[in-house]
Amino acid sequence: MKIIITFIVFCISLSTFAQKDLNRNGRIDVYENENNSIDLRVLDLVTQMTLEEKIGQMCQYIGWRTSEKETKNEDLKVNYKFSTHDAIDLLKEGKIGSFLFVENQKDCNILQQASFESRLGIPLLLAIDAIHGNGMTKEGGTIYPTEIGMASTFDIDLVEKIAAQTALEMRSIGYHWTFSPNIEVVYDYRWGRCGETFGEDPFLVGQMGKAMIKGYQGSLDQTNILACAKHFVGGGISNNGYNGSPADISERTLKEEFFPPFQEAVKAGVYSIMPAHNEINGMPCHMHESYLNDMIRKDWGFTGLYVSDWMDMEKLYSIQKTVSSETEAFEKSVNAGLDVHMHGPKFLEAMIQLVKEGKVQEKRINEAATIIVKSKFELGLFENRLTKRQNVKETVLKKEHRETALEAARKSLVLLKNNNVLPLKKDNNKIFITGTLADNQAMLGDWAIPCDKTDVITPLAGVKQSLNKTSTVDYLDMGSIFSMKDSLIKEARDRAEESDVVVIVVGEHGQRNQKPNYQTLGENVDRPVLCLRGKQKELIKAVHQSGKPIILVLIGGGPIAIPWEVENVDAIIQAWEPGMYGGKAIADVIFGDVNPSGRLPFTIPRSVGQLYNHYKLKPSSYARGQFLEQARTPLYPFGYGLSYTSFEYEIIEYSKSISTSDDVHVKIKVKNIGDKIGDETVMLYVNDIISSVATPIKELAAFKRISLGVGEERVVEFTIKNKQLSFLDKNMKRIVEAGDFELMLEGSNRVKLKEIFNAY
Ligand code: BGC
Repeated sequence: MKIIITFIVFCISLSTFAQKDLNRNGRIDVYENENNSIDLRVLDLVTQMTLEEKIGQMCQYIGWRTSEKETKNEDLKVNYKFSTHDAIDLLKEGKIGSFLFVENQKDCNILQQASFESRLGIPLLLAIDAIHGNGMTKEGGTIYPTEIGMASTFDIDLVEKIAAQTALEMRSIGYHWTFSPNIEVVYDYRWGRCGETFGEDPFLVGQMGKAMIKGYQGSLDQTNILACAKHFVGGGISNNGYNGSPADISERTLKEEFFPPFQEAVKAGVYSIMPAHNEINGMPCHMHESYLNDMIRKDWGFTGLYVSDWMDMEKLYSIQKTVSSETEAFEKSVNAGLDVHMHGPKFLEAMIQLVKEGKVQEKRINEAATIIVKSKFELGLFENRLTKRQNVKETVLKKEHRETALEAARKSLVLLKNNNVLPLKKDNNKIFITGTLADNQAMLGDWAIPCDKTDVITPLAGVKQSLNKTSTVDYLDMGSIFSMKDSLIKEARDRAEESDVVVIVVGEHGQRNQKPNYQTLGENVDRPVLCLRGKQKELIKAVHQSGKPIILVLIGGGPIAIPWEVENVDAIIQAWEPGMYGGKAIADVIFGDVNPSGRLPFTIPRSVGQLYNHYKLKPSSYARGQFLEQARTPLYPFGYGLSYTSFEYEIIEYSKSISTSDDVHVKIKVKNIGDKIGDETVMLYVNDIISSVATPIKELAAFKRISLGVGEERVVEFTIKNKQLSFLDKNMKRIVEAGDFELMLEGSNRVKLKEIFNAY
């Protein structure tokens, strides 16, 4: 068979010979002819590749210029010998398939230019962590709210649009692969990466992840990029919330809660998956063959590529201690299914040796090389690997993208409390604004290097821009979270007394690349408490003594537990990390130019003691236990969020009786009965009232965000898929059990409606 295919390939090769210019080998190969099918081109190319070239495709290195600075990095100190010079040489020798974090367009082009000179001229895949916009490149990029804010919008189309715009900006510079979306379900809010995720609910996380994948990958052409669903799995419930520490999760919880978003991603055709740093029930994710290979590839049908996380193959030896050498680590990872090795100098030689010794089959290397080069054909890189400066200028930060960033920021803000103090008047108002995060770039969140100041509207700038001339703004900079001075706290109280109203902007500083100890949350920056850190609460208490109304704005990529503040301030806006125009969006909500509409994708606890108080608790969670110092209920439930208007609901039609294999259809009427235009997210939950295995008291089954004018009403139709009524029975088999189910609807004004239907 192989001989026949090779013969056909050879014939086609001859037939195309005359059509094009000869390549550097003095011929035009099948893989070089864009008129041939991708499968044929891939086959031709892989057939021509040496073992070393195939393994070379599996090698990814940290960006070229960046790599010179990175020699200081702890991970690289030992045996690090990868310099600019080496990179170009290795590339020409066909020993590199991919880079991550190339800093700018010029460097992308220099590297791609060098790739022409390798024996087969295979282009590079250039990757970057464009997590909420392309925030890590020196070229600049539109910075949207982080995922926690995107999830709060409950706006699937918007999230898809953000991803598509990010893809456009990336491609214009020369990047083709983002390590996004992070679709981990989060239970432990101490984990610094909550802000990178879509929250605690697997259904919401799955829907958001799917939208992002669609936006990034589109139909995989010159305007699209590869998405990467990460990190598989369990980082959101790791020991102590430390990034990468072990996670012990029951099989049931894995299957019910943590796997579903990844299953959705595979169904959506995600091109790559990154295993998690952590081990799961004792087995490191980077060598978890039964998950990566047997379950995800074979059972779920994943056809894309696995990329290791940053030197995590090596960490099987250096940290997790499950293998006795780095070489064995490479062996175990690649045999478990890993295709791309993210950074490190030893992989190539070690892998060649492993194949020679028969410890890794060449077939496995062929599979990896095939999928990697296939992605390059699909992205059109063989025809188009270089980019033009003009395109960068026209695409990066273009008007339409900036508008989306503002729209997303506006839709992501969650109004948690309002004692009728909001919206504020723009005229004749003396506003005092203070806090640690009122006038810096913390609002950009992690995975964004500092932006040009002219591209960012901070809360202070937003408030100033919104006010009319008859009003004044007084601002007091409180310094960073862990260095607030007592004298400034006292001054804040005094200046509050001179004002009509105070806006305090506090929370967590998530943006990276800051001074040491400046970043308080993010990757590898976890937290021991969930309350406001440093002296931020003291600041609020001091200002509270002034007796002036306080509007508290919370910035940060994770829930903040603030029961005292909830009792004592007049309004609270949970702004998460709203991106480059976050300050404008915050001011728009404060002054009523925008009606707040975000809803919580996380349950907000009262303290760190309520860590696992997510909304999908089982019925007995509420039966006995209690803390003497605090109520059992969370501070704010999942899905919470106020509006300046009010909505009325009616469940007008639903399937009252279904068979256990049917879907459920529901029609809901929603009416805006307030005096302001507003957006509402209709959320429908379902509960299997009695089940033979304990199941959650409610599960989000459907949601839709709609806009309603004053007095306007709309009918929203939902279909709850049969699978959404199912659970894993005592034999771990998925079933829908006959019996009564509850349909529950919760509105932003806390209206709760309930109906019962029966499955027979
Ligand atoms: C993170 C990944 C990221 C990778 C490359 C790792 O430390 O865990 O999420 O994609 O670095 O930057």
